[in-house]
Amino acid sequence: MRVMVVGGGGREHAIIKKLKSCAGVDEIFALPGNGGMANDATLVPIGAKDIDAIADYAKNNKIDFAVVAPDDPLVLGCVDRLEALGIPCFGPRANAAIIEGSKVFSKNLMKKYGIPTAEYEVFESADAAYEYLKTAPIPTVIKADGLALGKGVIIAMTREEAIDAVKSIMSEKKFGDSGNKIVVEEFLTGPEVSVLSFTDGTTVVPMVSSMDHKRALDNDEGLNTGGMGTVAPNPYYTSEIANECMEKIFLPTIRAMKAEGREFRGCLYFGLMLTPKGPKVIEYNCRFGDPETQVVLPLLKSDLFEIMQAVARGTLADCKVEFSDGACACVIMASSGYPEKYESGFEIKMADEVQDSVYVAGAKLSDGKLLTAGGRVLGVTATAQTLEDAIRAAYEKVEKVSFENAFYRKDIGARALLAKKG
Ligand code: AMP
Ligand code: GLY
Repeated sequence: MRVMVVGGGGREHAIIKKLKSCAGVDEIFALPGNGGMANDATLVPIGAKDIDAIADYAKNNKIDFAVVAPDDPLVLGCVDRLEALGIPCFGPRANAAIIEGSKVFSKNLMKKYGIPTAEYEVFESADAAYEYLKTAPIPTVIKADGLALGKGVIIAMTREEAIDAVKSIMSEKKFGDSGNKIVVEEFLTGPEVSVLSFTDGTTVVPMVSSMDHKRALDNDEGLNTGGMGTVAPNPYYTSEIANECMEKIFLPTIRAMKAEGREFRGCLYFGLMLTPKGPKVIEYNCRFGDPETQVVLPLLKSDLFEIMQAVARGTLADCKVEFSDGACACVIMASSGYPEKYESGFEIKMADEVQDSVYVAGAKLSDGKLLTAGGRVLGVTATAQTLEDAIRAAYEKVEKVSFENAFYRKDIGARALLAKKG
């Protein structure tokens, strides 16, 4: 089958590498992909948000199946468009992608269906929010309603910071129309866990859990980034907690979406916080996480393409989904200066033996050379029987990849190992 993957980062590279190993997949097209994937897919220079061009390409090139990976095209209705052309897709329609596209929607959904999450208020005007913030408990969390490149969440440690956050989101429109409404939320504490799941709208199959490292520098210091590394499984996520999440969060969410006439098919990502009062939902994403996917898919033993087709058909209950009981670690190598200003255009060199373990996020091909072309350049992964070995192996491989101005965290997985030791 001719399979199209919409998106162009490390997550998409991990999906493409896994699909490549599936018996039912003959050819993979990446829209737009990036130069680092050139050996794994045909690169098609169409942006992930250009729904019209994506639909035309799929129709004219006899695409049999589409995987829409990033949030923007999902929220914009890419799946709806492709399905209207008769092309089956992995990914939710727009009316279900709203679970990520609107925080007001997802908070109201959780409240209506009793799904544990932080207490919150919604505001449609800055003045009303300022009034509320005069007496609101501090710290507090301010969230822009819509998509904001992962930057729409501000943790305010003081009343002044909270007011500044409202001003920048609602008055200065830092995130455009995404800030027309805001959610002001109770500040929660506890370890964070990412759980991606396959769901066809009725059945939900959680994947192995993972832990992201969002801050740029070691010891969780520095600015928030798109993610500097991940490990799986997440040692905080015990089987007891997993059972509790299934009963109180995963199944109720799938049922709630169905009851609302918004059946969710694709990967539903649960961002959880294990609070002293039990697991609570911090956020939903309507897609695979990045860089969580880079540690979750290498542990998948079953055929990803069969699972994706079962999700699209609504037959996930009959499909085998098995993960290995080993562990995986991913270290992101970024351009020095990321997430702020950084230079790019430097040649990336890697030893042949690590090629299979590298998921490229920001690179382009130029005269046969692979050059850096982004803040997060690539992720280096390793799987092993234990988390400790996986982390060690990932860092050994990092030594075999080089480009000028590279930087990476030295402590990916360190907190997970401490948690494991208890
Ligand atoms: P997000 O961009 O939605 O992934 O949120 C970014 C980060 O903000 C999360 O990973 C949490 O660490 C933090 N966060 C979001 N909501 C809350 C909350 N209610 N309490 C504490 N931390 C939060
Ligand atoms: N790693 C978090 C996300 O994909 O949103």
